[in-house]
Amino acid sequence: MSHADDHAGTRRDFLYYATAGAGAVATGAAVWPLVNQMNPSADTRALASIFVDVSGIAVGTQLTVKWRGKPVFIRRRTAEEIKAARDTALTDLVDPHAENANKPGADASDANRSMDEAGEWLVMMGVCTHLGCVPLGDGAGDFGGWFCPCHGSHYDTSGRIRKGPAPRNLDIPVAKFEDETTIKLG
Ligand code: FES
Repeated sequence: MSHADDHAGTRRDFLYYATAGAGAVATGAAVWPLVNQMNPSADTRALASIFVDVSGIAVGTQLTVKWRGKPVFIRRRTAEEIKAARDTALTDLVDPHAENANKPGADASDANRSMDEAGEWLVMMGVCTHLGCVPLGDGAGDFGGWFCPCHGSHYDTSGRIRKGPAPRNLDIPVAKFEDETTIKLG
């Protein structure tokens, strides 16, 4: 066999395996170990930042993205949601801390939790601070924010724990507006 044939054989093999791999993705979890080898290592994933296009999020709706293996809620709040969050006295809160990685040590007033000054954008980990379930959104719970059905934790429109066993407000990850319609997480 010539070198040229050799080379062609290698390419054919490569194409065969690539095709087999692509087909396998559709077959589901059984092939996960194969597919997983193509993904970045856990170390790389842990450090990774992602950019999220938020231009399609309408007022009063929420986008959930997966980041570092966990859900992140990106909500564009209504004027009513912002008002409810900002009218709440700090003394009514269970957790007095902002739990905002962008503002260490800040109190839990809504202005310290929202992304922008007007308070339209709220970005939080979608992980209940009790035992880690994913809370339901879109006005769920007694405080019009999020509700975790696992053990009944109610979060307000600022993602602050108001009732139930969760000890902390929903955590706010490192995040910033990269431009008008792009949020960078991490
Ligand atoms: S995990 Fe959310 S209330 Fe227990």
